[in-house]
Amino acid sequence: MKIYFITSNKGKFEEVKDILDSCDVVQKKIGYPEIQTSSLEEVILFGLDSLTDTSMGHIIIEDSGLFIDAFQGFPGVYSAYVFQSIGSCGILKLMEGIIDRQAVFRSMIGYRDNGCGDVALFEGVCKGFISEIPKGNTGFGFDPIFIPQGSNLTFAQMTKRKKNSYSHRGKSVRKLKKFLERR
Ligand code: IMP
Repeated sequence: MKIYFITSNKGKFEEVKDILDSCDVVQKKIGYPEIQTSSLEEVILFGLDSLTDTSMGHIIIEDSGLFIDAFQGFPGVYSAYVFQSIGSCGILKLMEGIIDRQAVFRSMIGYRDNGCGDVALFEGVCKGFISEIPKGNTGFGFDPIFIPQGSNLTFAQMTKRKKNSYSHRGKSVRKLKKFLERR
């Protein structure tokens, strides 16, 4: 099955492709509006609605964010903007002196079968901690400052496969994979 993953993020694409190994996953860099709301689900549903080209048989989009406990979930749905503006070092600066380092990465995948119009959503959550200093150089985004629960390495110190075994995106994609296998 051919699935078009609509994203400009190469890191996300490679992680998803690695798990959906029985599909032909193709990256499509088409823009779509990302509405300002506190819900990843709303972002995804609005995004899917705005992608009206039905020539691609099966499409997926993904929205994710880093939710930091000490900041009541900030940057959350604003993670992309915050990463571009202050980056991982900016987050570490904001967290100087803060003892509670707990944080959660969330991923929401939206899938649409353009043949029948069926839509399905898949969520993945990864609890963890914000490190004291950035470590590692693989991956993307906030990977160098996020340590998932059960590990003492940041995502950026892991291989793609290892990160996928812990990550929010790994979990949401494995749910999508199961769903596709049952269809
Ligand atoms: P969006 O899903 O494209 O809106 O972007 C979410 C932002 O959250 C990205 O730009 C990254 O900065 C960050 N992010 C999402 N997933 C990950 C991840 O797996 N590792 C590191 N940063 C991530």
